[in-house]
Amino acid sequence: MKNTRYCQTVNTNGRSRASLLRFIRQLMHIETVAEYRIPNRVHKLINRLLVESFSDYPLERSYYKLLPQFRYLVWVGEDLIAHMGIEHRVITIAGIPARIFGLIDLCVASSYQSQKIATSLLQQIEELGTTSGIDFLMLFADDPRLYTKNGYHRVANLCRWMMVDEHQTLGVGEESMSDCMMVKQIGIQTWQDGTVDLLGYLF
Ligand SMILES: CC(C)(COP(=O)(O)OP(=O)(O)OC[C@H]1O[C@@H](n2cnc3c(N)ncnc32)[C@H](O)[C@@H]1OP(=O)(O)O)[C@@H](O)C(=O)NCCC(=O)NCCS
Repeated sequence: MKNTRYCQTVNTNGRSRASLLRFIRQLMHIETVAEYRIPNRVHKLINRLLVESFSDYPLERSYYKLLPQFRYLVWVGEDLIAHMGIEHRVITIAGIPARIFGLIDLCVASSYQSQKIATSLLQQIEELGTTSGIDFLMLFADDPRLYTKNGYHRVANLCRWMMVDEHQTLGVGEESMSDCMMVKQIGIQTWQDGTVDLLGYLF
């Protein structure tokens, strides 16, 4: 998978916050990496960032329930400063299949927040999805602000999913997720009312 390097104009004389942000962005390296290629050393860094970002994150692994298919990792030098996991899946909406990218565990290290790094990652996955035949981007978030700003909206469909906890399948859940489920249409298929079958675990 590809590596991309952020290149923006840097005002080396500037001491303002804006020029500092531009400088950081020039140092930033966004990596898109397939899960199976991530070495243990990097899984440890991912775990550390996730534990710092989410209060209830498991201490010993780099995923909450199951492995994503690929991830965006943002580096400044050897420091991992942001993360987003991606689930590539077919779901059904009112019985109609749709291809989705599910966004998982998006986080930015606290000292790098409010610099549009998460927004950049959302833009990157949208570009990739648009050129890869993806119908919808989808995520579950209690706080909608970042996503609303980036064109996502909440949906209230009844959802069906495979319940997984600590590496055990517990059954099938069915519930509306109107307080956290968000989608963004990026293909020609439009979102419909009706049951959403996630055809897998709730990411
Ligand atoms: C949410 C988060 C990824 C945003 O990263 P970021 O690079 O600072 O985001 P951007 O600079 O692109 O956008 C910032 C906007 O996101 C929104 N935002 C802030 N915290 C947020 C949160 N926890 N959830 C959703 N949106 C949030 C605000 O509108 C913010 O605007 P502001 O800086 O003017 O207040 C980052 O705050 C974070 O890692 N938080 C901890 C982990 C988390 O809650 N992740 C979301 C899981 S769904």
